[in-house]
Amino acid sequence: MPPVVEVRDLLAHASGEVTVLGWVESIRTHGKVAFVDLRDGTGVVQGVLVQKQVAPEAWDAHQTLTQESAVALTGEVREEPRAPGGCELGVTAVRVVGESAEYPLQPKEHGVEFLMDHRHLWLRSSQQRAGLRVRHEVEQAIHDFFYERGFTRIDTPILTGAIGEHAGSLFQTDYFGEKAFLAQTGQLYVEAACPAFRKVYCFGPTFRAEKSKTRRHLTEFWMVEPEVAFADSDDNMALQEELVCYLVERALERCAEELRILERDVSKLEGVSRPFPRLSYTDAVESLRAAGSEIEWGSDLGAPDEISLVEGRDRPVFIHTYPKTAKAFYMKENPEDPRTVLCNDLLAPEGYGEIIGGSQREDDLERLRTRIAEEGLPEEAYGWYLDLRRYGTFPHSGFGLGIERTVAWITGRHHVRELIPFPRLMNRLRP
Ligand code: 4AD
Ligand code: MG
Repeated sequence: MPPVVEVRDLLAHASGEVTVLGWVESIRTHGKVAFVDLRDGTGVVQGVLVQKQVAPEAWDAHQTLTQESAVALTGEVREEPRAPGGCELGVTAVRVVGESAEYPLQPKEHGVEFLMDHRHLWLRSSQQRAGLRVRHEVEQAIHDFFYERGFTRIDTPILTGAIGEHAGSLFQTDYFGEKAFLAQTGQLYVEAACPAFRKVYCFGPTFRAEKSKTRRHLTEFWMVEPEVAFADSDDNMALQEELVCYLVERALERCAEELRILERDVSKLEGVSRPFPRLSYTDAVESLRAAGSEIEWGSDLGAPDEISLVEGRDRPVFIHTYPKTAKAFYMKENPEDPRTVLCNDLLAPEGYGEIIGGSQREDDLERLRTRIAEEGLPEEAYGWYLDLRRYGTFPHSGFGLGIERTVAWITGRHHVRELIPFPRLMNRLRP
């Protein structure tokens, strides 16, 4: 058998004989000529069979091919400037590897619930592939960004004994007779790693038992969480800007084809550059009220508020210093206004909402204990976390960027469920 070559490398084998292994996307037969679009995961190539030029077995075998059959096509690579990838395959032999009778997903409009029920197959379609390739590129870019800047990656536990964010959205499980939770965040653990490595980050799945059926909520999502020693809230926002610009640039540079397949208007991303506008929560509430919103100072911003704050802007917007009552226990009190904390959210343009939440951390032992008590959290679960304030406490800050929301914005997809291979939603645990 001629050498097996991946589709992306075919052009380098022009005029040579090769075998391509993959899945049939479509077949069209016009009399004595047949066209097979073969996808191998690195690209799609068109195979051409001419009845009078191939052995009868090859012609017969091609007639058994159906959508998504796994096959080995052997033939000559021919340069074809009009074809995607610049070449096609003059097929001489066809071997069926795995048949595919009555593939459920047809090239027609299916309802989204049907597609989600067939997520294991839907992954193969071109827009789903493109979205997940952008996700992959963004994930790689995140690692590159932190690696280049001297951060150490810390893998944090998923089974935890302490509540990381809020008690209301915990998945609880039994841990040999003890109560355990699925991690809502890796933050408390990267804070502990900070004095060991100074600049750290974790990147992993996080869990929220949120009863929210919106286009922005998953019950399992991936988050990158850097934590930096001796950084204050302003430094923290500067790092967020730098990261977000890096990710957008990287996607524009390396995922042009994917963004084209997704019909993304890339002009909306090309303007994303530093600095991002910074607006205090108090000013944000004032401008929302002036525009007719009934939001009261003290409550968290709702999705419509977030949308109106980014309306007409070409880049994300920081909202900082939220009221203490709207945010998590670990955020540092704002010395200039103790009703608020030194935190920020980053709101993406085009209505994608909050993609980052971050803050400077409370580094004072007594104030942190008070906050834990005020929130009704069990202090015994935070003994080790309080130790970080007993032994060499230090100013530090960090943030969490949600991967699916960020990639939904970059790709312009409506719902986060398409940007994770197997989404977990309130009403979906399968496939
Ligand atoms: O604002 P959050 O809850 O912040 C934290 O978890 C902090 N511990 C981060 C830190 O300071 N280290 O979540 C951070 C981000 C959000 O801005 C959003 O992008 C994403 O995580 N996120 C979700 N994404 C999808 N589905 C959900 N249910 C999400 N909840 C948060
Ligand atoms: Mg948040």
